[in-house]
Amino acid sequence: MYTVPKLEDYSPEALDRATQELLSALEQESAAITGAKACEDFRNRWMARKNGILTQVNDTWLKAAPGPSKREVGQRVNALKQKVEERVAAVEEQMSGSASEAKLKAETLDITLPGIQRPYGVKHPVLQVLDELIGVFVKMGYSVAEGPEVESDYYNFEALNFPPNHPARDTQDTLFIANQERRPQRDRLLLRTHTSPVQIRSMEQLKPPVRVICPGKVHRNDAPDATHSPVFHQIEGLCVDTNITFADLKGTLEHAMKSLFGNDVKTRFFPSFFPFTEPSADIAISCPFCGGKGCRPCKQSGWIELLGAGMVDPNVFGFVGYDPQKFSGFAFGMGVERLAMMKYEVDDIQQFFSGDMRFLRQFA
Ligand code: PHE
Repeated sequence: MYTVPKLEDYSPEALDRATQELLSALEQESAAITGAKACEDFRNRWMARKNGILTQVNDTWLKAAPGPSKREVGQRVNALKQKVEERVAAVEEQMSGSASEAKLKAETLDITLPGIQRPYGVKHPVLQVLDELIGVFVKMGYSVAEGPEVESDYYNFEALNFPPNHPARDTQDTLFIANQERRPQRDRLLLRTHTSPVQIRSMEQLKPPVRVICPGKVHRNDAPDATHSPVFHQIEGLCVDTNITFADLKGTLEHAMKSLFGNDVKTRFFPSFFPFTEPSADIAISCPFCGGKGCRPCKQSGWIELLGAGMVDPNVFGFVGYDPQKFSGFAFGMGVERLAMMKYEVDDIQQFFSGDMRFLRQFA
């Protein structure tokens, strides 16, 4: 490490040598600097007022110089001072340059890297079928109505002509909300077992003509198996106007099934019972898998039962204040999962709710 020597000899040659030594030390030390700390140390070592190398040079060379040499030494010391200052400034300049370069480098974005890709979500197959069917009915002039999933006994049963304690209630194994014994029966809450209560709610709000389609989630206390799920979806339709006949019901459902399953599909109506329709029918379509020849999904019959329907019972009109002498109507309801199973050849209803991506990806 360089230290400032005392000068005995003030001849020009000796001064040259001492100056050279100092400058080459300055050169060497400045070349070895890396980092901000070393840069600061370098400045202090050479330029600190108290005991920096320049101060020492001033004290040991200039102040000690004999009279005749003072002028010459003074000039040299000034020149040295300038060189040291330039050198320190240059080193500092370089340091801050490389610091901002490093900062820039750290902040650089490689725009050639592939971006983060978020896969598009798609509609669940049950929703796809639901929306497709809604589309079919919207084109026929129906509007969409919705109602609550937690429903009262009145809307789910009573106003649909299921009297209290009537055995027809047993066909829909119902999940009741607990601890409601103190309420009158009609106000007790339950999970709706079908979307038919939305018929009642719609008729309470609208004057005929009424054309609504009511999609939604329903619940029944059924043990899950390949064809049953305690939660599923229904889509309900209601049409009320003057002179609505069973022929209108037939034509409407025939059209809907053809829209969904193609023009070759046939529909078959046979007698059934629902408390809120009279007459009532169950409707089957010709098996879309075998075309009616008989196969496993249609149990060799060639037909698959898909819908319940009928002409609105005049008693129901009584509950909503419609005049049954003046108006008539039809209603129908179907299970959406059932339709989706037919359409996509799914053999287990549980697949829709299992959340298995291998299954769901097929509908993307
Ligand atoms: N709500 C009936 C059910 O869930 C289906 C239905 C709707 C029948 C409308 C006739 C008319 O079983």
